[in-house]
Amino acid sequence: MKDQQYLWWQKGLVYQVYPRSFQDSDGDGVGDLKGIIQRLDYLKWLGITAVWVSPIYPSPMADYGYDISDYQGIHPLFGTMEDFDQLLEEVHKRDMKLILDLVPNHTSNEHPWFLESRSSRNNPKRDWYIWEDPKEDGSEPNNWLAVFGGSAWEWDEKTEQYYYHAFLKEQPDLNWRNPEVQQAMFEVMRFWLDKGVDGFRVDVMWHMIKDKQLRDNPPNPNYQPQQSTYEQVIPAYSTDQPEVHDIVAMMREVMNKYDERVLIGEIYLPIHRLVTYYGQDNQGAHLPFNFMLITLDWNARTLTSHIDEYEAAIPEGGWPNWVIGNHDKPRITSRVGQAQAKVAGMLLLTLRGTPTLYYGDELGMRDVPIPPDEVQDPQGLNMPDKNLSRDPARTPMQWDTSENAGFTSGKPWLRLPANYKRVNVEVQKEDPYSFLSFYHRLIKLRQEEPALHVGDYVPVVTDGPLLAFIREHEEKRFLIVLNLSHKPSIFSPKNISYKGKVILATESDLENNRIEGVITMGGDEGLLIQLD
Ligand code: NOJ
Ligand code: MG
Repeated sequence: MKDQQYLWWQKGLVYQVYPRSFQDSDGDGVGDLKGIIQRLDYLKWLGITAVWVSPIYPSPMADYGYDISDYQGIHPLFGTMEDFDQLLEEVHKRDMKLILDLVPNHTSNEHPWFLESRSSRNNPKRDWYIWEDPKEDGSEPNNWLAVFGGSAWEWDEKTEQYYYHAFLKEQPDLNWRNPEVQQAMFEVMRFWLDKGVDGFRVDVMWHMIKDKQLRDNPPNPNYQPQQSTYEQVIPAYSTDQPEVHDIVAMMREVMNKYDERVLIGEIYLPIHRLVTYYGQDNQGAHLPFNFMLITLDWNARTLTSHIDEYEAAIPEGGWPNWVIGNHDKPRITSRVGQAQAKVAGMLLLTLRGTPTLYYGDELGMRDVPIPPDEVQDPQGLNMPDKNLSRDPARTPMQWDTSENAGFTSGKPWLRLPANYKRVNVEVQKEDPYSFLSFYHRLIKLRQEEPALHVGDYVPVVTDGPLLAFIREHEEKRFLIVLNLSHKPSIFSPKNISYKGKVILATESDLENNRIEGVITMGGDEGLLIQLD
């Protein structure tokens, strides 16, 4: 691997901007493109190299932009195409990359394609979506469920058929078996790539093709009543079908016509299934999103075994990646607590592979409780008793101590927490011991040291609540030791002996200490040790 040339998306780190919540520039309480432009210098300062922006296209906003009614436009809430062009230019000027969200699995029910498709059974676009006759008794064609609650089939009175929607009924699934659909979406990709966009994060990549025979999904024997109703069946026939890889390979072919663009896939699957999305000969997704740090229990033994399994499962030439938060899941600080979230940040930024950060996590922002009458997220509204609203992780970025934390001069679309006067960029930037300062130093170190961004990963055998590994490149080696619990624990590595100097620690007074052998790790402590 020594002389390999690494690409920008291998060396760098991705920062997810949820555009509604990053920065509002016009006082309507919703973030916008001009707002993002205003904050690019902050991202540059933080050390971010690529920005992924969640959907900014025209949309009725039934699912806050993941229901698209025009793939080649900009929603007026977010600005204009000129604003977009300016954003792209400003990102590139700062030597950063811009990644867009691509939502090819479904459109909005207000997209002209769907309006045509539903207009009559013999409309030329009828087969662009998944239309099916009812069973003899009039019921749904099969037992498939929608992720956001209820059946995945919606009855259409006029044409007397059901259409399939994996998410809301306002999000009909496209029929990716239809070559016209494929070509239309590849056109969309080329439209943005021609403009100079650096890549796509592809929404629900593993959903894109469904079983041709539409067989019933098997029941889930482990279903718990507090889970989403979607979990009642195992999506064996509605997701992760073998033919999806042909589609991903075609998308990759579109990307391959351009220089150094990146194809990221949103995929929630176990490791052995996830890695199949790298594709034959690595001609699938460059980065099938790895959500293990989100979905697994925060337990050192569980994480260690999965990290090792993942490292072993990545195909030759494939590049790993790690994600710690996104707009669909509770924030890391709320999952593991403030002190442990620093340890989590160290893990994210020292593992081998491209990290993706979620806006605000670098401040230790928490999920913000949203009162029932202010809930906006359809997943929360459709299953109100299950605590599934995604709003708490989507609240406005906290910039400063002014009203609404500097996010908007109007009424923010989601409320801010009371603690924003402490937890914000302005205050934390000034405080060398803040969460943000820690993140800033960590990112800087990662990007300065090839061992940390492209180096090899060597497991270190430990036990209890500790997780440890070495990253090495040429002559430089770093040992990372993390205590994933709140209690002290003894680090006594089984397969290495070591000597070195602490160069970064969750408790900064430990930095510059020389260290070797068996040591006691404090609760919630993380050490990055440069080995002699
Ligand atoms: C995954 C996206 O991340 C989520 O926010 C969205 O609701 C669904 N896909 C449907 O597009
Ligand atoms: Mg606005």
